Amino acid sequence: MRSFAGRDILSLKDFEHAEFMQVFETAEDLEPIARSRRNGDLLATKTLVTAFYQPSTRTRLAHEAAMHRLGGHVVGFADPKMTRAGDFYQESIKDTVHMLEYYGDAIVMRHFQQGAPAEAARWASVPVINAGDGWGEHPTQVLTDLYTVLKERGTIDGLTFLCIGDMRMRTMHSLGYALTQFDAQAIFVSPPDMSLTAEFKADLASRGLVFREAEHVAEVIGDADVIYMEPVVQADYTQSRVESGGAARPTTPDNYRVTKDLLKRARTDSIILHSLPRMDELPEDVDATRHARYWEEAFNGVVMRMALLALVLGATE
Ligand code: CP
Repeated sequence: MRSFAGRDILSLKDFEHAEFMQVFETAEDLEPIARSRRNGDLLATKTLVTAFYQPSTRTRLAHEAAMHRLGGHVVGFADPKMTRAGDFYQESIKDTVHMLEYYGDAIVMRHFQQGAPAEAARWASVPVINAGDGWGEHPTQVLTDLYTVLKERGTIDGLTFLCIGDMRMRTMHSLGYALTQFDAQAIFVSPPDMSLTAEFKADLASRGLVFREAEHVAEVIGDADVIYMEPVVQADYTQSRVESGGAARPTTPDNYRVTKDLLKRARTDSIILHSLPRMDELPEDVDATRHARYWEEAFNGVVMRMALLALVLGATE
């Protein structure tokens, strides 16, 4: 197995089963620090650089919180408009990361261009973590999701994941790749214009994932152990910023919503994950059902970033 020390976390495409398990075990070891709300000192000599070219609440702040929980330091930007990449100069990723690599020991980057973190990793002498790249991947989110499944269900193997939403989303890509390393099945439900691409389906099939597509959530919700949701009404992930301009928000067709009423058809032990933010696909009254696990997922998001940062910065093996 490859060492995590000094490694970029760009994709889950080539993550091996043993590597998933090492990350989960590290998260389990570090979880008491987050649970006790007392900061430790494992990364006291390290600094994280956050380079967020796209809006984020959870991913950026979970990385920052993780760094603080381990006694480390954080510098960075959350709005590229206030950097030379976002003004007249349109400074390149190459030139930008040649600066950022001297400001810290790892870089976590979110970008509207697919492949931007990989481009950064080509030039950076420190590890680069992909915090979401366009329609590409969102590896740290899906590691958080699978850690949550492991904690809540005791296993990932043997489970059926019902994935609902826009299959072009970066989480869906990372999840598809991740599930190929487990004995898990997937059912995908999406609007026709947001379905899995033929290329991605062929890639998943060649990697051994057992999956099928369905038209209606109601048809298949009873087969699911994990109900994995994303919006179908959402921002364009290929743009730097989308202003709503106060326009009325479109609504999600019933076919892609999970309501309390629909959950009567679900297995009693099925769990709902949603990386958030949500629109109307997941009504707030679902939060109080036995199925909701997205707030546990939010806590686990900090723990998972603690594990990844400790591993890539070589503080733990
Ligand atoms: N889950 C997630 O990526 O949320 P943010 O966009 O708020 O980071």
